Amino acid sequence: MAHCESNVLTQVGCVLLVVSTYGDGEPPEDAVPFWKAVVHGNGLDLRGVRFSVLALGNTTYDQFCKCGRDFDIALERHGAIRIYPRVDCDVDYDAPAKKWFHGVFRVSSRPITPRCRHRVLRPVARLLTVLGRL
Ligand SMILES: Cc1cc2nc3c(=O)[nH]c(=O)nc-3n(C[C@H](O)[C@H](O)[C@H](O)COP(=O)(O)O)c2cc1C
Repeated sequence: MAHCESNVLTQVGCVLLVVSTYGDGEPPEDAVPFWKAVVHGNGLDLRGVRFSVLALGNTTYDQFCKCGRDFDIALERHGAIRIYPRVDCDVDYDAPAKKWFHGVFRVSSRPITPRCRHRVLRPVARLLTVLGRL
């Protein structure tokens, strides 16, 4: 996300966004420019883009998974279609993250092409593996 500009969202058919929350309901530092552009920006036309959000957080904070909730609302506001409900993860994220991962691909009506497998499934699987090791 650190290297993403908001217009990248207009160039893809499907956005699977995995984001945590820091500070007092704020995005991780690297994600701030992207978050500002998407959450507070106007003029993004995401009609036809499909999306789902996996939010990472901790229920001990007042603003539980706020950043994920912000993105979820903003992507819909820009016209994108939510293909699977946002899942908010507490510290035990393993089961809910897996549920989201399987849910997203179950509801996806498009067949999983080799390109999708390479560009989406593998990075998400790698991410879940990395998270599992922390
Ligand atoms: C300084 C700090 C502030 C945090 N603030 C929030 C918060 O406001 N809301 C929330 O849901 N989680 C909050 N968290 C919890 C993180 O979102 C959670 O640990 C998450 O799994 C971190 O994932 P990451 O390290 O992969 O970014 C905070 C964690 C830290 C260390």
